[in-house]
Amino acid sequence: MKLVVTGSLGQLGNEILSIIKSGYAEIGAIPENFDISEVTAIDIDDLDISDLDATRAFLTKVKPDAVVNCAAFTNVNACETETQTAYKANAEGPRNLAIVCEEIGAKLVHISTDYVFSGDGNTPYKENDPTDPCGAYGKTKEQGEKFVLENCKKAFIMRVAWLYGYVGKNFAKTMITVARNNGAVKVVNDQFGNPTSANDVAYHILKLLNTENYGIYHCTNNGICSWYDFALRVIEKAGINATVSPCSTEEYPTPAKRPAYSALDNANLRATIGDEMRDWQTAVDMYVNKLIESGF
Ligand SMILES: NC(=O)c1ccc[n+]([C@@H]2O[C@H](COP(=O)([O-])OP(=O)(O)OC[C@H]3O[C@@H](n4cnc5c(N)ncnc54)[C@H](OP(=O)(O)O)[C@@H]3O)[C@@H](O)[C@H]2O)c1
Repeated sequence: MKLVVTGSLGQLGNEILSIIKSGYAEIGAIPENFDISEVTAIDIDDLDISDLDATRAFLTKVKPDAVVNCAAFTNVNACETETQTAYKANAEGPRNLAIVCEEIGAKLVHISTDYVFSGDGNTPYKENDPTDPCGAYGKTKEQGEKFVLENCKKAFIMRVAWLYGYVGKNFAKTMITVARNNGAVKVVNDQFGNPTSANDVAYHILKLLNTENYGIYHCTNNGICSWYDFALRVIEKAGINATVSPCSTEEYPTPAKRPAYSALDNANLRATIGDEMRDWQTAVDMYVNKLIESGF
């Protein structure tokens, strides 16, 4: 399958390229119809997806069968003040990709987030539950989803959460670094969600691309925990002797409000290609092992 991957220098983009190159994800062999020679990997220096003319020129030249949009402005706090940049990347970019995919008949997988939900619930959100983001990042991502669904018939929206990959910055790497440097970490224990392996997500994206079951999907590792639980698991697995203590959101204020509960239910995955996502602990343990082995 001829594929364009945007945001290819980011966490998820990297995992998609890596599993296509090797033929294997951590949870199994990928479908056989993906070949790295048919993948065009791009990031903002190759194409700014918020530019419609440039996006049209690029995609009509490459003529992919599908586009996977991993490009986004993901700095949740910065989204509160850099509103223009956030809207361009997270709303206008996906709209442009949707318009052009519709024009050229390509499938589009657009990646979204648990932060489109308010966080007021206490049971995992299903794909069709109403969205109502509490911060600027979630609002721009919500608008991106709407634009994609309005403009492209062959679109998959895949919401992921608390993502970690081998390349790029993420919460798990930050916790390891802080624990090593300070010997102590304080982490919020009143925000709940699903730590999610970008490698597992990448595998499910490829499987989904081989179907025509367009629509909204949740794709997170199984089990729910707090950021504190996540940090504790990572630091213990990394074998770091550090004190990890819980704190409340009130004690650790950030510029952006975050949902208190944003766990997702992968109902549509189960109903279609099957949910092969691992328990969050199993995925985190393998991730930390490999990270440490690689010299991190
Ligand atoms: N990270 C998480 O915890 C998390 C949680 C839930 C959902 N998600 C979603 O998952 C997807 C992948 O996230 P990720 O963590 O892999 O992201 P990432 O590591 O931040 O990578 C995103 C990439 O997109 C690029 N980009 C930004 N604006 C662009 C534009 N206008 N045109 C083209 N490229 C642009 C970024 O370049 P620069 O670095 O130069 O900006 C970066 O290389 C995103 O849709 C994100 O919203 C992530």
